[in-house]
Amino acid sequence: MAEIMDTILILDFGSQTTQLIGRRIRDMGVYTEIIPGDSALSARPPDPKVKGIILSGSPESVYDQGLAPDAAIYQCGLPLLGICYGLQRMTFDLGGAIEPLPKREYGRIEVKINGKSEEAHAAEFLKGCKPVFTAWMSHGDTLTKLAPGFTEYGTSGTGYPAVVIHDTKPWFGLQFHPEVTHCEGGSGILAAFALGVCGCTAGWTMEHYVEEVRSSLNTRIGESPVLLLISGGVDSTVAGALLLKTLRGDQVHLMYMDTGLMRKDETTIVKANLEKLGAQHLHIVYCEDEFLAALSGLNEPEAKRRAIGDLFITIQEREVSRLGLPDNYFLAQGTLYTDLIESGKGVGKKAHVIKSHHNVGSPLVEAKRTAGKIIEPLDRLYKDEVRRLGHFLGLDAEIISRHPFPGPGLAVRIIGEVTREKCDILREADAIFMEELKLRTSAGGRRLYDEIWQAFAVLLPVRSVGVAGDVRKYGWVLALRAITSADGMTADVYPFESRDLLEISTRITNTVPEIGRVVYDISSKPPATIEWE
Ligand code: XMP
Repeated sequence: MAEIMDTILILDFGSQTTQLIGRRIRDMGVYTEIIPGDSALSARPPDPKVKGIILSGSPESVYDQGLAPDAAIYQCGLPLLGICYGLQRMTFDLGGAIEPLPKREYGRIEVKINGKSEEAHAAEFLKGCKPVFTAWMSHGDTLTKLAPGFTEYGTSGTGYPAVVIHDTKPWFGLQFHPEVTHCEGGSGILAAFALGVCGCTAGWTMEHYVEEVRSSLNTRIGESPVLLLISGGVDSTVAGALLLKTLRGDQVHLMYMDTGLMRKDETTIVKANLEKLGAQHLHIVYCEDEFLAALSGLNEPEAKRRAIGDLFITIQEREVSRLGLPDNYFLAQGTLYTDLIESGKGVGKKAHVIKSHHNVGSPLVEAKRTAGKIIEPLDRLYKDEVRRLGHFLGLDAEIISRHPFPGPGLAVRIIGEVTREKCDILREADAIFMEELKLRTSAGGRRLYDEIWQAFAVLLPVRSVGVAGDVRKYGWVLALRAITSADGMTADVYPFESRDLLEISTRITNTVPEIGRVVYDISSKPPATIEWE
């Protein structure tokens, strides 16, 4: 059995930055778990791993729609840290007062620490705070009366309580958000809580994770075979590497569909990596013709997505039954911690469906889920942790650092009807764009590819006039897209140096004769989405 790991429990009240709290603390090597803010804690088995509880922020007000935590948190004796709404919630629940501010405080605001304490818990916590620092706030309510037993130790530049601590209990409150990068020394404050006050040991390492997965997989699946459908993306490739590392090689069946809508050399790269890790049963299904036939004559984005999704399911069922695995086989999925949270399993919030993603809800997955035969060995990891795990497992840096790629592949980057010829043109142009981003560096010395969260080329159904030599040319228009983002939910346009864009454009039009013109997409998300379709 793997050893029990110290954990910080985060009660989520719906703030945009709850995930960040979890990530910052995990970056210190302490495991975090996020659960809905109003979870019944007394109903949960007493968990000796939990060393402290954080109450997150919220878009709501305590006297309005805001959720309340289980009152058991105030009895359990664990250290508590309330952040923004979390602080207001604690204050409200414990007999203080909260009132709306005349004007919402938003953005960078100076905080001054103006008190000292002889009490060990308070002194430990205050070690994490600089005497004066720039914090980041976003709140429309404030504390107008502290709850009994609390003292104000820090004040915002606007004169409101910013740091409050209970005199005898390890209960702390911050009106600002230490988890956001704009908060100066924010990680130090969270570390003072998690490592200092709660006394957590920094035992959350990739090595530890692999050992935990090994022991839980052995108990759960024993000798049964496991099938993993690999898309070529980071998550499923790392999931494959993890299965190969923790199970016997002959137990692991990997299936990959080459839809013909992949990036240049994608299949070769994925195959080489998995074979290097010892894959014995790697089934590559070449189904380009089927996908192109299904897409023929379709112009409308949702119709294209539906056709791809349906065909995926058909081929998946056909090919899986061809493998002839025994009924007791398990289906592995590269689900991440954030996927669980977004799908409502974690905090009960659902993201709006703007585009139908083909890669959810296949009947095969549903049937296996009903049979209790799904394993999700990455389901406690954030994306950056998955990358670290991939590195630890020996995957190539190029695979680990790859930009996200949509399930429907190039089909949503060829506007209008998809043809083999258009796929080839786009693949070539996109590969040049990617190669250039890997060759070029920013002023800070990083590869542009690594500064950019996602970049790709889009082939427009538009031809425009140009000249090649002395001859009139009528070529396709190619759009380049490059964005920075934290999670793909919002995105900013990457501000290229104009020389980079000019040179990349020239190389594309000189190398891919079918392309006559290159444009750069300067739309952020929102209002635009990242993909064009
Ligand atoms: P949008 O275009 O919705 O994209 O702003 C957000 C992120 O999701 C990716 N994306 C997809 N990923 N299946 C996927 O697995 C899909 O159908 C799909 N559509 C968009 C997109 O590349 C970006 O990273």
